[in-house]
Amino acid sequence: MAEVIDGRAMAAGVLAATITRVERLKAKGIEPALAVVLVGSDPASEVYVGRKVAQCRKAGIRSVEHRLPAATGKAELLGLIDCLNRDPAIHGILIQLPLPPGLDAAEVLDRIHPLKDVDGFHPVNVGRLSTGTGGLVPCTPLGIMKLLDSVVSDYRGLNVVVIGKSNIVGKPIAMLLLEREATVTVTHIETRDLADVARKADIIVAAAGAPHLVRGFWVKPGAIVIDVGISRIGAADGSTKLVGDCAAHELDHAGAVTLVPGGVGPMTIACLLENTAQAAEMSAE
Ligand code: GUN
Repeated sequence: MAEVIDGRAMAAGVLAATITRVERLKAKGIEPALAVVLVGSDPASEVYVGRKVAQCRKAGIRSVEHRLPAATGKAELLGLIDCLNRDPAIHGILIQLPLPPGLDAAEVLDRIHPLKDVDGFHPVNVGRLSTGTGGLVPCTPLGIMKLLDSVVSDYRGLNVVVIGKSNIVGKPIAMLLLEREATVTVTHIETRDLADVARKADIIVAAAGAPHLVRGFWVKPGAIVIDVGISRIGAADGSTKLVGDCAAHELDHAGAVTLVPGGVGPMTIACLLENTAQAAEMSAE
């Protein structure tokens, strides 16, 4: 059986470490605060925002929710971000994606002050990541690195295949692994012979959003498989269930795997709290 890397247990560890940092900040008179902005009422986004706010409470981080109607105009949203940028009592700003049609995510994310950009999506932070010069790192890739670090001590020369080239996961995780001197291949929807490419990997990071895309025969014996996908599919009995990008039941021969749920998901939120503590620490420097 493959080792299961327990995302829930690791997330609890990140939360505990963050609580310590939050307490240290509070002792210095700084109460870390995260502004969460949700535009519209996308059901999945509602669930994610609810979880983020609940976890903030656990960490002792103040959260301030801004729920705006789907018809909110660009000027109003940018005005809110300007306000949050100027507010010294707010340390992190999170704009939940996707935004409703008509709002350009790139333009909105560009407006967030890079030091408050706890999602790590601002071009300054993207540039810092790609040049290895610090900055706030996107939460999901940060969480994936912590999961991988629990089973890998030296990445030099390892073949990593990233499936999916998104700005949120694929590209930033490739940058983090390149910094560790892994040999990184980023694949995407147009990649040819993906199974053959994947079979050469020591580590697979599957972030395509395609249920059960990665089959057992794609995975070399002993390889590590990180499953970032999360899709809801219908089960035979008419109910629905959450599944990842990997056919987990075909991965007994892998070295270590993460499961869905209970793998990457909990780490993403824990790393958001960690980033918020970091942003609050930077505000004190
Ligand atoms: N929507 C899906 N993933 C994310 C994320 O990591 N951050 C934000 N803000 N929105 C998302």
